[in-house]
Amino acid sequence: MQIQESEWFDRVRQQFDYAPYPRIPLEKLPHGNYEELFVHSLVTPYYLRHQTVVDTRGKTILDVGCGSGYKSLILAIANPGAHIVGIDVSSKSVELSRLRFQVHGFTDAEFHTLSVEELPQLGMQFDYINCDEVLYLLPNPTVGLQIMGSVLKPTGIIRTNLHSYLQRDVFYRAQDLFRMMGLMDGNPEEFEIDIVRETMASLKDDVLLKKQTWAPKFEVSEDPEAVVSEILMNHLFQEDKGYTVPQLFEMLNASKLELITMLDWQSWNVADLFETSDGLPKVWQAILTCGSTAETLPIYELFQPNHRLLDFWCGLPLQTQPLVPIDQWEQSNWQNCTVHLHPQLQVEAIKAQLMQCIDTSTAFDFSRYVNLSAPAPVSIDSHIAIALLPLWDGPQPMQALVERYQTICPLHPITLQPVSIDATFSKIKQLIQQLAQFCYVLIERSLNP
Ligand SMILES: C[S@@+](CC[C@H](N)C(=O)[O-])C[C@H]1O[C@@H](n2cnc3c(N)ncnc32)[C@H](O)[C@@H]1O
Repeated sequence: MQIQESEWFDRVRQQFDYAPYPRIPLEKLPHGNYEELFVHSLVTPYYLRHQTVVDTRGKTILDVGCGSGYKSLILAIANPGAHIVGIDVSSKSVELSRLRFQVHGFTDAEFHTLSVEELPQLGMQFDYINCDEVLYLLPNPTVGLQIMGSVLKPTGIIRTNLHSYLQRDVFYRAQDLFRMMGLMDGNPEEFEIDIVRETMASLKDDVLLKKQTWAPKFEVSEDPEAVVSEILMNHLFQEDKGYTVPQLFEMLNASKLELITMLDWQSWNVADLFETSDGLPKVWQAILTCGSTAETLPIYELFQPNHRLLDFWCGLPLQTQPLVPIDQWEQSNWQNCTVHLHPQLQVEAIKAQLMQCIDTSTAFDFSRYVNLSAPAPVSIDSHIAIALLPLWDGPQPMQALVERYQTICPLHPITLQPVSIDATFSKIKQLIQQLAQFCYVLIERSLNP
């Protein structure tokens, strides 16, 4: 390790030995946080990549920079039967992760005080690598991606993220200021945190740095530790760096990895930024129709830098034929497919809510459970929601869903004429297609249609 890099390493390690992150009590479980579980479930990106519903049993999942282990715990819960491996440069964080797993009785896990650069030492290959809020701290994120790519199985997936320079530029300004004052020369602790707090509290409210990076609750917080964490992870965050989407693509190219999708893919749609998508200026219609993802994501970022994280899934280039997107499937694919509910939505509380909506003829809102910052709610009418109920009992052939709905609604509600099975099929297909865009349901093509 070069001298410059070893200084970097010590600064990061000291910061997280002093204040392991996240600061979440050991007893806390993520139950009821469907979105967190959905995002940490290998089923979600695996489906987006391979259009199949993966069985998580026996899979090996790595959490790089596991911190105090809360996200590792979510990974363990969201991926039943998987073996969890956590690494972190901060031994204090690793200790807390081990303790957290003990508290909840999870034994199929191992934690190591190790840097991402040392990963090959483990001699393991992974099905899924989660590297959350770590990459932007590395001296060279491309090297981190390359190393993770080298320990990834061929069909494996990496979830990682970078801080957005455009969204967080105010914090980089704050860090420049406090660095100039010498507050980041050593490891920022109580003394340095107090100076930040005092400075911000005594600035006029309309000073931009205060207006954009400070909240009055930081001065009168009932939870002082939360304020400390807030300051350390923003104003005094050692080695925090921001990047843009084009830089993200450069890193992926240099690491021979392919973008699968942004994690919150529903919230990166340029057309959603215009008043109406039908009335787009011609030039934008052309750009958005012909532009690749690598071209349109930077446009979104320049129009609307509202994502703190450039959070994405990526993988090694696939050796297989590219998948046919669902909206290009043939009728025979639809007729022979199987529909699954996303396993993280397959819970009694959500089923009970759906049944209540059906009973009271009110719309059922999927985005209440998982929305990934989608710009609009994803609500479905209670009449059609009825069709989904069997999915809580397990995967269903598309044909079975159609036939059941046909039995429930055999007549057209206005003409009272019998509805044809083809019309029912199209109606259910439209519903499933809408929900599949969000991965609320996962549709698998039969191997022998
Ligand atoms: C902001 S925390 C994120 C913790 C956790 N991933 C989460 O999102 O809750 C960053 C963590 O990455 C660890 N870290 C930083 N550089 C690392 C490296 N090169 N190798 C392994 N861990 C690293 C830090 O010690 C710290 O615990």
